[in-house]
Amino acid sequence: MIVGAQWGDEGKGKIVDVLSESFSVVARYAGGHNAGHTVIINGKKFVLQLVPCGVLRQGCRSVIGNGVVLDPMAFLKEVAALRDAGLKVDGNLFVSNRAHVILPYHRMIELAAENAPGRVKIGTTSRGIGPAYEDKMGRRGLRVADLLDLQLLKKHIENAVREKNMIAHALFNSEPLDADKMYAEYAAAAEKIAPFVADTAVLLNQALAAGESILFEGAQGTMLDIDHGTYPFVTSSSATSGGAATGTGIAPNAIDSVIGLTKAYCTRVGEGPFPSEEKGDAGQQLRVRGNEFGAVTGRPRRTGWLDLPLLRYARMINGISWLVVTKLDVLDELAEIPVCVGLKIDGKPTGEIPAQASGFDKIECVYHKMPGWRASTQGATEFGQLPKAAQEYLAFVEKETGVRVGMVSTGPERDQIIFADEFAREMQTRSPGKV
Ligand code: IMP
Repeated sequence: MIVGAQWGDEGKGKIVDVLSESFSVVARYAGGHNAGHTVIINGKKFVLQLVPCGVLRQGCRSVIGNGVVLDPMAFLKEVAALRDAGLKVDGNLFVSNRAHVILPYHRMIELAAENAPGRVKIGTTSRGIGPAYEDKMGRRGLRVADLLDLQLLKKHIENAVREKNMIAHALFNSEPLDADKMYAEYAAAAEKIAPFVADTAVLLNQALAAGESILFEGAQGTMLDIDHGTYPFVTSSSATSGGAATGTGIAPNAIDSVIGLTKAYCTRVGEGPFPSEEKGDAGQQLRVRGNEFGAVTGRPRRTGWLDLPLLRYARMINGISWLVVTKLDVLDELAEIPVCVGLKIDGKPTGEIPAQASGFDKIECVYHKMPGWRASTQGATEFGQLPKAAQEYLAFVEKETGVRVGMVSTGPERDQIIFADEFAREMQTRSPGKV
């Protein structure tokens, strides 16, 4: 399975796309259309938000698991775009009947709350993700199976809209939403979604029982995880590897390999702690060279240096067995590359990652400056093609995290990739019936 080891945007789309060749099913287990997985195939760009990247591979089935929150309109829009691009979605794309549905009042409440005085502004993607998960955990959500049950849908929308309108008016003075209009739109969407709906836990477990292998496609990243990230500046789901079991219905002991993705540097979108952030010109250079603008919202990403203490934390939380380093080529022009190798609080070294956002304010990064290579790594396909300093950079990451680098991405296209031999072998000879 694949997880983001930073704050999301590590380039999971491309890596899932490359690896999906060796898997028969790709499954999403958390998040929603807040994710933006960009894949470039023969110069054509695909941005997938809800649909797993496996859909871009012939013969690969894609599953949106129960842990995902599904915006029906966003889903249908994406399906239409995929069909327009000539990709097959019918019969190979499945949506869990237990996934929760995002409705317009979720977005209304999120937008109002984000801008309300006295509230902590998270800098969300404004997709209604948080309020939809709130309703799920509050046991008042609407699941995909309920969306298809039109009587239940009508009743649910009438009651929920009445309640949400009152809350939004009282708290934020928001304009009310119209329940009848919403019902008509969502009943029409339900009809189009019905052919995709399945009990995906059964589907996935049957696939495993038949000896097929499944690739879990994590969304967001470790530091955005609701429990283990920089709370409250996180997303509302379990983005770490633990979320894959509950978010799909696959037992934890079926997971035998966790691949952690990290950029060769670091980025974050939205508010919240970012110890190795580089606010000066060098940060702007990373933003421009790395085209660090959100795939979903277009917002400029905050940029900074690789943070090894956070990577070690991500390894611990996820059980990362291989690292994949992306966007190495973005560092090509730098004369020297700072890497955060340790953290200090009040001037004293610490191995702890603070539980409070305020704790991060006191954190100081200890930097080690690595020599740059000032040569192009773009498109390299063998470790031996990399300049010596780039090889040493990767070796340093391996030594400091204790995890081997299995792949390095050296450009946006499918074939701009380096595979470590052992990793490639492991991917090709995967244990049947494992994730
Ligand atoms: P939400 O998921 O829209 O509630 O946003 C919560 C936080 O997670 C914000 O800081 C977002 O910028 C961030 N976020 C959500 N999804 C992604 C993603 O796919 N990549 C990077 N950041 C994300």
